[in-house]
Amino acid sequence: MKIALIGFGYWGPNYARVLHDLPGVELTAACDRRADRLAQIRERYPAVDAVASVAEVLDRPDIEAVVVATPASTQCDIVRVALESGRHVLVEKPMALDAADCDALADLADSMKCVLMVGYTFLYNAGVRKMKEWMAPAAFGQAYYLHATRTNLGPIRQDVSAVWDLAPHDVAIFSYLLGEQPLWASAIGTRVLKNDREDIAFATLGYKNDVVGNIHVSWADPNKVREVVAVGSLRRVVFDDLNDVERVRVFERGVSAAEAVADTFGEFKLLVRDGDIISPKVEPSEPLKTQCLAFVDAIATGKTPLASGRFGGGVIRALAAIEKSMRSRGAAVEVTGR
Ligand SMILES: NC(=O)c1ccc[n+]([C@@H]2O[C@H](COP(=O)([O-])OP(=O)(O)OC[C@H]3O[C@@H](n4cnc5c(N)ncnc54)[C@H](O)[C@@H]3O)[C@@H](O)[C@H]2O)c1
Repeated sequence: MKIALIGFGYWGPNYARVLHDLPGVELTAACDRRADRLAQIRERYPAVDAVASVAEVLDRPDIEAVVVATPASTQCDIVRVALESGRHVLVEKPMALDAADCDALADLADSMKCVLMVGYTFLYNAGVRKMKEWMAPAAFGQAYYLHATRTNLGPIRQDVSAVWDLAPHDVAIFSYLLGEQPLWASAIGTRVLKNDREDIAFATLGYKNDVVGNIHVSWADPNKVREVVAVGSLRRVVFDDLNDVERVRVFERGVSAAEAVADTFGEFKLLVRDGDIISPKVEPSEPLKTQCLAFVDAIATGKTPLASGRFGGGVIRALAAIEKSMRSRGAAVEVTGR
């Protein structure tokens, strides 16, 4: 399968390496509008056709699929022309900055019978998959809340806020773990780096049965954290992407309220469960490679990928509600849409 890469900035080279080495795939062309990036493509991959425009990629009839790794604000237009030309598309998150655009792209993909997939790498991360395994309802109990922290000193984006840059990952992880979309959002953001966009945010998403998911993102925190915590009535499950030794930890502890005996009617007895802390084995794998294999598989089999365009649209709806809530100092905003 001949694939082209569009965008060879910070993240694109990771795709180039993975696609170049992927069995059954030929990285045929790579595109960037900057001359210095084109020079790097030629130096690293002399056999790959280095081109400066999307049109030159799409003019090549042998290319079946494209991977788009350009800045967030440019992706929607590039994805649209690629789909219109009949190419399967894997686009980096967030795909588009507007839910209506996401819906239109997903509809277009359907009508062209093309795969549209979004680069939600964490859904292809063995640690996040392990986390979901350990959250199976019988052992996890009633889901109470999720909490995600994604902090570091930048890298600061010029076209979108920290919410649109970082939170898509956590919204996607929450949707994957809970198997549902949020119903409402409430968020506060601040601009400490004199950007005209938020560089720090605290966002809460509400799900069915009063489950809440809290997301903290920051470009202004010297402590790099990539952590997701899930707390249920029977267990606490933690994913720490920066911990190579114990990527997932499970605390076999929890508390729940049981109705007390009749003479204390109206009061509840707390049932505390105590147990071990376990570090389940997480098989080493590169999430980006697993994600690219899923893209190729979706093209070959016609199966809808986990991180489909429709799934991506759901993430954008939640981000739009977070954005709206930040404008009204945290007022709860309904997540609307399809
Ligand atoms: N999944 C992840 O973990 C992850 C990590 C980093 C970045 N990303 C995503 O990857 C995307 C790219 O991020 P980045 O950090 O590489 O950005 P970047 O700005 O470093 O690189 C983008 C590149 O795209 C090129 N470009 C822009 N418009 C173009 C066009 N019309 N045609 C051809 N080339 C064009 C630019 O010249 C630049 O080299 C973003 O959507 C970002 O959210 C995802």
